[in-house]
Amino acid sequence: MSSSKLTIYINSSKKPPSFARNVSFPLTIQASPEETVGHVKRKIQAKIPKFHPSRQRLTLKPTGNTKPPSLSDETKLQDVLAGLAPGSSNLELEVKDLGPQLGWKTVFVVEYAGPLLIHPFFYYLPRLFYGTDVTHSDLQRLVFTMIEAHFAKRILETLFVHRFSHGTMPFFNIFKNSGHYHILSGLFLAYDLYRPSFSVSSTYIKNTWRNDPQVLWVCVGLWAFFELSNLLTHLHLRSLRPSGTKKRAIPTGYGFGLVSCPNYLFETLGWGVVCAMTGSWAAYLFTTVGTGQMLLWALKKHAAYKKEFGKAYPRGRKSMIPFLI
Ligand SMILES: NC(=O)c1ccc[n+]([C@@H]2O[C@H](COP(=O)([O-])OP(=O)(O)OC[C@H]3O[C@@H](n4cnc5c(N)ncnc54)[C@H](OP(=O)(O)O)[C@@H]3O)[C@@H](O)[C@H]2O)c1
Repeated sequence: MSSSKLTIYINSSKKPPSFARNVSFPLTIQASPEETVGHVKRKIQAKIPKFHPSRQRLTLKPTGNTKPPSLSDETKLQDVLAGLAPGSSNLELEVKDLGPQLGWKTVFVVEYAGPLLIHPFFYYLPRLFYGTDVTHSDLQRLVFTMIEAHFAKRILETLFVHRFSHGTMPFFNIFKNSGHYHILSGLFLAYDLYRPSFSVSSTYIKNTWRNDPQVLWVCVGLWAFFELSNLLTHLHLRSLRPSGTKKRAIPTGYGFGLVSCPNYLFETLGWGVVCAMTGSWAAYLFTTVGTGQMLLWALKKHAAYKKEFGKAYPRGRKSMIPFLI
């Protein structure tokens, strides 16, 4: 096929990025039909160096009130052309600035680092937060270790296990996304768990099952089982996606026979153990909000699996809660 001439328009409804104010649009870019949308983004950056591909959103030029969908980086230009009037050799695209971006992994690490750092402050400096020293109960010691281990695991999984299909997200999302972890599982949970009411001499703990080593170790064992199960499902998801690809396949095996998102199920059960062990309102709040969010995501992922894989997707598999939802 011969190379076609592309004209790239910036979205007229939004202001161009400040660093492109002196650029006159439309930019004219030469590209061959075999090249992809990702190549076009790099050619735009060649003309506007600060316009990094990760902050560009390319669509077909809108006509009337219709909002064309975003074109993925892998889409070949010949496939974009194929959807237009026969014989088109020009492509009119529109580029929108998505604003500053942050790496997907960076956002997750910042989210999980919040509680990982906040808990030791409350645990080791009780006088600062409660105005008195706290002789920690076994329950407090164990829960502190469990929570630190959980968030360390999530950071290690983010860095070394997950193969994300998204590269970046808007910079300001980091504040919105971090709120859930930094406030609910960080500040609220740490404040509630290490206070004097849970200490070794408190009436809530002393001479109750919450101070019985056998009960506590059964809880730790159950929690460790759910955490390990969650890790196994993450390792399976990793195995479905060859390195450097965005491939998505039907997960099978451990937990996936019953639900599409057993990783969410095991995460919820792990936090359920923390709730039962402690009876902490903050643990219940974080678990309820997190489970609600995971349930919504699981419903969406389940529907997406069924749409993408059709009859090949196992029938009878639920979204997140076996036999129910
Ligand atoms: N406590 C809470 O409030 C809370 C809330 C949410 C999550 N979490 C924890 O965070 C973990 C990760 O959450 P998540 O929403 O990122 O999980 P996820 O969507 O299931 O994804 C985990 C990883 O697997 C990849 N993946 C998913 N399905 C795949 C498939 N069919 N084929 C190939 N790769 C696939 C994902 O890539 P993509 O980039 O393509 O999606 C991602 O890298 C959860 O399992 C849970 O432990 C906790």
